Amino acid sequence: MTETGSSTEKKRLFIKSYGCQMNVYDSERMADVLAPLGYEPVDAPEGADLVVLNTCHIREKATEKVYSELGFIKQMKADRKADGGAMQVVVAGCVAQAEGEEIMRRQPAVDLVVGPQSYHQLPELIARASRARGERLATDFAPEAKFDALAKTRTAGGVTAFLTVQEGCDKFCSFCVVPYTRGPEWSRPVDAILAEARSLAERGVREVTLLGQNVNAYAGEGGLASLARQLAKIDGLDRIRYTTSHPNDMDDALIAAHAEVEELMPYLHLPVQAGSDRILKAMNRSHTADSYLKVIEKIRAARPDMAISGDFIVGFPGEREADFQATLDLVEAVGHAAAFSFKYSRRPGTPAAAMQGQIAEDVKVERLARLNALLDSQQAAFNQAQVGRTLGVLFERPGRRPGQVVGRSPFLQPVHIEGGAELIGQILPVHIVSATKGSLTGALLSQVAA
Ligand code: SAH
Ligand code: SF4
Ligand code: F3S
Repeated sequence: MTETGSSTEKKRLFIKSYGCQMNVYDSERMADVLAPLGYEPVDAPEGADLVVLNTCHIREKATEKVYSELGFIKQMKADRKADGGAMQVVVAGCVAQAEGEEIMRRQPAVDLVVGPQSYHQLPELIARASRARGERLATDFAPEAKFDALAKTRTAGGVTAFLTVQEGCDKFCSFCVVPYTRGPEWSRPVDAILAEARSLAERGVREVTLLGQNVNAYAGEGGLASLARQLAKIDGLDRIRYTTSHPNDMDDALIAAHAEVEELMPYLHLPVQAGSDRILKAMNRSHTADSYLKVIEKIRAARPDMAISGDFIVGFPGEREADFQATLDLVEAVGHAAAFSFKYSRRPGTPAAAMQGQIAEDVKVERLARLNALLDSQQAAFNQAQVGRTLGVLFERPGRRPGQVVGRSPFLQPVHIEGGAELIGQILPVHIVSATKGSLTGALLSQVAA
């Protein structure tokens, strides 16, 4: 038996994901590549044979969280050793890529550091790291080799699934680490994606969310519009979503697909970041507030009910009160169904970190609160507007209360109803009776009618 071959000896694997959905996808794929070695996922790190932290570097807080978590893991590793066992500790993801060997210097309990484009090598690397103090760092950019090496079928359960179709970013927004941690833009071939989607549909997945740091820059044959049209033909696959998109890559073909392809859900995450052209320019976003609004207008012409979501940064270097006001104005003009807003975080090595006019923390806090108040009210209004309507809901899981089941509306809102687990995996019309800021409550139309 080779060191990377299959093994029947059961081992406990704990993976923790931080950051974006691409990390969630990667964590699932890591579990897939480790399964043939006998690793079975467990819910807690205590007593695990292998702990993987799949990390995020996007803001300072995200990175620091990893080091504090590693402090706890170090203690667990020591406890495990005292009990005569062994725990291997792997740091994967974007902090791994950005900080490399520095991680092992800061936390010697770490056995291995693996970047987001190298985790397919995990079986080999783990075997090597446990034998000798050999290679302990893998941070090449080789997305093609990675996807070729990953198993063609997936073990992930559930009725919804993530599917990475594009990786990396060439946009170099001046605040952002992603182009450095994920490497250049690269798109998976159409056939590989269709094969993975079919395999998901065969195991009961009804909704896929296509993932990419710039998913609408997907450069496989025909672009994202054509990919969506082909995916829509797969039996059993009834809902298609994608995230995250860049405003400049929202082309006419994709917008037209939203008008024509029923499976494409009317929810679009299209981050704008800010509403002031001066700040957008300093951010190197290469769009203006006005060009963004024109894109939104086109999208709504094709799909009038499209729910718009976005990301915002407040307190970017040089942001004056008037610039911030322009962000509020843009938010007012768009009307959001959901949004994520952040205080600017200075990331070493990015151009914005060296800019003049860094904004004081208290100003950032105050602007974030004002922006969130506006976005929260828009989200609440959007949810409230669904009351009295009937929405198709894909049921995903039992609710927190017994007798309850939870699904999602086409607009990605969680919808709670009274019902049993037999509903999971079905898409059924639900009459919406009430709404909160975060979710909807309703009843099956069949129950209402009865
Ligand atoms: N590719 C996507 C998402 C990138 S990261 C896009 O183009 O929008 C997700 C979000 O994190 C970004 O949209 C941005 O709003 C936020 N972000 C990125 N870098 C940040 C930083 N240095 N400080 C605060 N927020 C940041
Ligand atoms: Fe970061 Fe900008 Fe690329 Fe998005 S488009 S990942 S914000 S550099
Ligand atoms: Fe974080 Fe990397 Fe995603 S930095 S947001 S995990 S691409």
